[in-house]
Amino acid sequence: MAYAAGVDVGSTQTKAIVIDEHGKIVGRALIDTGSNVVTAAEKSFLAALEAGGIAESEVGYVVGTGYGRYKVTFGDTQITEISCHARGAVHMFPGTRTVLDMGGQDTKAIRVQPNGEVIDFSMNDKCAAGTGRFLQAAAFALEIPLPELGLVALRAEKAVPITTTCTVFAESEVLSWLGKGKKIEDILLGVHRSIGTRSMALLRRVGVEPEVTFTGGVTKNPGMVQVLNEMLGLKVNVGAESHMMGALGAALFALDRIKGSREPVAVKEGVG
Ligand SMILES: Nc1ncnc2c1ncn2[C@@H]1O[C@H](COP(=O)(O)OP(=O)(O)OP(=O)(O)O)[C@@H](O)[C@H]1O
Ligand SMILES: [Mg+2]
Repeated sequence: MAYAAGVDVGSTQTKAIVIDEHGKIVGRALIDTGSNVVTAAEKSFLAALEAGGIAESEVGYVVGTGYGRYKVTFGDTQITEISCHARGAVHMFPGTRTVLDMGGQDTKAIRVQPNGEVIDFSMNDKCAAGTGRFLQAAAFALEIPLPELGLVALRAEKAVPITTTCTVFAESEVLSWLGKGKKIEDILLGVHRSIGTRSMALLRRVGVEPEVTFTGGVTKNPGMVQVLNEMLGLKVNVGAESHMMGALGAALFALDRIKGSREPVAVKEGVG
């Protein structure tokens, strides 16, 4: 039996997923990308194989995606992150019409057709202020572990307005509010809201049509999920695999190739 695999080499974390011929996830792995992108791709793939108890020779096709997709040297082809997140999101939540992928460096709003094909997308410019990197900067400044950041923000009573438009200045703004006696939770709610506002601008550009599926590493942050729900006035779809959605989509495209159907096409190559 041939398995299919997807490896999403993100700017921050690398995700790998192996699926069986029915599309069921049999192995997964997530590691920090670090400075050696080629090694990160290899390591995550081998870890996903090991998790599933699968030999490399049993994998029939591998699709690389993410910013480092061309560094997946063992991959059979590459597909943009935009297409892969869309495909994974529609597979997990078939009612998906809009996808918001928030990663470590990019945030992307994507409109999709019921079959998962991309209609349109919009992403942040070079600035990482509306991305997970901004949250990492705040976590670092306040010395709070990243997994707790969102939970602290949820305890806020009154958000402190965060005005900086640059991640580089996020740390100093956060610390200056702290110096003025503002509560950590109120500052953090402000940080989450500023990212939420930027995401809403991207979403409006493509047009928000429910259901909205949230993907990428920031889905692990319950504060961000809550802020998006409030701003959108609906509940975004989030599940256990949301961080892995790009890798899942890539694996599904790989499975198509094995089955000889649905030629994977890279949408707007060069982005994502
Ligand atoms: N356990 C966690 N709790 C809270 N947030 C997390 C957690 N793990 C990751 N994150 C967030 O997810 C981000 C990384 O997400 P992701 O893995 O989707 O990025 P990426 O794909 O490497 O980046 P990009 O798509 O922008 O190239 C981090 O910046 C961080 O904000
Ligand atoms: Mg990503």
